[in-house]
Amino acid sequence: MPDPVTLNVNGVHHTVHAEPDTPLLYVLRNDLKLKGAKFGCGLGQCGACMVLIDGHNVMSCDTPLWAAAGKAITTIEALGSLDAPGALQRAFIAEQAAQCGYCVSGVVMTAAALLARNPDPSEADIKQALARNLCRCGTHVRLIRAVQRAAKELAT
Ligand code: FES
Ligand code: FES
Repeated sequence: MPDPVTLNVNGVHHTVHAEPDTPLLYVLRNDLKLKGAKFGCGLGQCGACMVLIDGHNVMSCDTPLWAAAGKAITTIEALGSLDAPGALQRAFIAEQAAQCGYCVSGVVMTAAALLARNPDPSEADIKQALARNLCRCGTHVRLIRAVQRAAKELAT
């Protein structure tokens, strides 16, 4: 069995047994049963698997376990729940910013990192931040509106 690795996910410490080069996404979804981050391309090219590590949005399919150990990992589960969605999640619901929804978790996490470092982003800032999040359904306009709505709500 591989040596244990301790991860801090959403403020909780977990010990997992996995090879150090295992993608973080696999551990989140398969070991910790946190299914919010999605497997899209598996190649660091679509953003569906986005999580925060020490506040920075990173693609968890492209992040080996060893690189995440000892750092603060945040997944979308920490932002709210079905019963009590957080501000970003409420904004995405209000703007109906999804079709299939597969990209949305990753978009929300990128937006969370953006709003943490820039609470009042311009449309250009939002577009730039979301450049690595692909949406094959073409909901980009609504995704941007949702981030703008969340920024307004968080500012009040
Ligand atoms: S699944 Fe990670 S970037 Fe596409
Ligand atoms: S809503 Fe379908 S991929 Fe974005």
